[in-house]
Amino acid sequence: MSAGRCKASIDFSPKPKIQTPLVSRDTASLITKRFLRNIKPSYGSSGEMRRFVTEKARRVLSSYLLSSSRSQPSSSSLLPPVALYSTAAAMASKLNPPVTVETLNPKVLKCEYAVRGKIVTHAQRLQEELQTQPGSHPFDEILYCNIGNPQSLGQQPITFFREVLALADHPTLLDKSETAALFSSDSIQRAWEILDGIPGRATGAYSHSQGVKGLRDAIAAGIAARDGFPSNADDIFLTDGASPAVHMMMQLLLRTEKDGILCPIPQYPLYSASIALHGGSLVPYYLDEATGWGLETSELKKQLEEARSKGTTVRALVIINPGNPTGQVLAEENQRQIVEFCKNEGLVLLADEVYQENIYVDDKSFNSFKKIARSMGYGEEDLAVVSFQSVSKGYYGECGKRGGYMEITGFSADVREQIYKVASVNLCSNISGQILASLVMNPPKVGDESYESYMAEKDGILESLARRAKALEDAFNSMEGVTCNRAEGAMYLFPRIHLPRKAIDAATATNNAPDAFYCQRLLEATGIVVVPGSGFGQVPGTWHFRCTILPQEDKIPAIISRFKAFHESFMSEFSN
Ligand SMILES: Cc1ncc(COP(=O)(O)O)c(C=O)c1O
Repeated sequence: MSAGRCKASIDFSPKPKIQTPLVSRDTASLITKRFLRNIKPSYGSSGEMRRFVTEKARRVLSSYLLSSSRSQPSSSSLLPPVALYSTAAAMASKLNPPVTVETLNPKVLKCEYAVRGKIVTHAQRLQEELQTQPGSHPFDEILYCNIGNPQSLGQQPITFFREVLALADHPTLLDKSETAALFSSDSIQRAWEILDGIPGRATGAYSHSQGVKGLRDAIAAGIAARDGFPSNADDIFLTDGASPAVHMMMQLLLRTEKDGILCPIPQYPLYSASIALHGGSLVPYYLDEATGWGLETSELKKQLEEARSKGTTVRALVIINPGNPTGQVLAEENQRQIVEFCKNEGLVLLADEVYQENIYVDDKSFNSFKKIARSMGYGEEDLAVVSFQSVSKGYYGECGKRGGYMEITGFSADVREQIYKVASVNLCSNISGQILASLVMNPPKVGDESYESYMAEKDGILESLARRAKALEDAFNSMEGVTCNRAEGAMYLFPRIHLPRKAIDAATATNNAPDAFYCQRLLEATGIVVVPGSGFGQVPGTWHFRCTILPQEDKIPAIISRFKAFHESFMSEFSN
């Protein structure tokens, strides 16, 4: 229906009877009747319009009934019409607010996201206090080690990526003579190629629901070059970061709470949150801290069978590789076992591969699950694999650009049609994020003008991250009662803290989880923000925190010395 045809001739203007400044109850009744008479939908056959009109009438009528329901005439029955309506509306909202926490969707209430939880809110408050009352705390800045948001802590964007983005977003620059002096030749060429693939070169227009085809071609070529196996642009769905892609898969897979998803514990809380929001059940499997957060297929099997015995239909297995919050990188042999397990058990393999570029040890490398499956001889018909990738992580860290994609393989044509339909409901992901995703998967090559500077920026960031990870890992391991596994990849360390009984009792007395108590005391003493392990899940009775490796390198020594001093005093305060 066009906007023009949708017009209804509803006359909301006061009629002669209500031009008097004060109205009695009788007059109010007349107002309502008159209002109802004046409703003349010009497009009578439209159900939508009828609903709109009826709703308006219902609201006016109920405001009148509310004002007239009092047994004694009161001053409000002699109010001007507008005041009469608004008094009734205010009363109505007091008596019967349209939304309360109790009437919200319980799935929303169930959902939690610790990375931006209580400790962070507390840190923001302390930061404001530092600004308004300098010297009010024993530190002069808040050091955010709670979230994998590299550029918020000073990491610089990759020049080539930003050059292409700037040119694509403001194409008139491409016609200016100064541009050749300001931008690298390959960024100019890439911007032209990208714009040529966008209908009308309009980066401000909606794209295909899966994303611009030319950009998906570039991503598919990047995946094929990475894996040595073909990739198809039709399998790529560009999304506003990996998070919406994960939500989309949960929405597709979870029908009722009897549907479960196997998730690692500890896990990145996007998974527990999206499973809760979409009304399914999280089936936990534990990573083994003693073996460097190892993933045993015997544990997968045990948890799967237990869930099935309780009537849960387990639909998929989530693997985060490299791991968040645990930072481990899976060995190839382990990945093969996982592929075999999913194939045999008929599970969709949801492979979160957003940290594929973040590997800091020589004895490990990244292998996509699709590559592992193909190298085992398994094709589309054997196994469904979804790979999530993001522009937020890696050496690029472009979290705010909201770019990412999922590559879906092993789904039938009619299922793919449904996935496409769900993607279409969101129209498309943002175009800058789409462009960035294509650049990340298809960066400058040897011989391109930007290649050397690009490689220098990339290596500089990754080498620095590796040094930061090692310095923090060593520092944590040097503290009494703290053990920390090797940071092989991703952006985090997840040390275990063996807390004294007195600290656990003090936490319980204040209604806190012991690790949340520790993190809060750390924040109040040092300004360092880390996330309690309880936000990610952990073996019951063990306590951890997650600390990012992202503060700039010159801040790391101060973080370490403040952390150590705090820890010593905490342990002596609560020593048994
Ligand atoms: C394992 C993992 N997956 C997915 C995401 C979501 O990232 P984004 O939505 O920014 O792409 C994150 C963010 O921290 C993450 O750590």
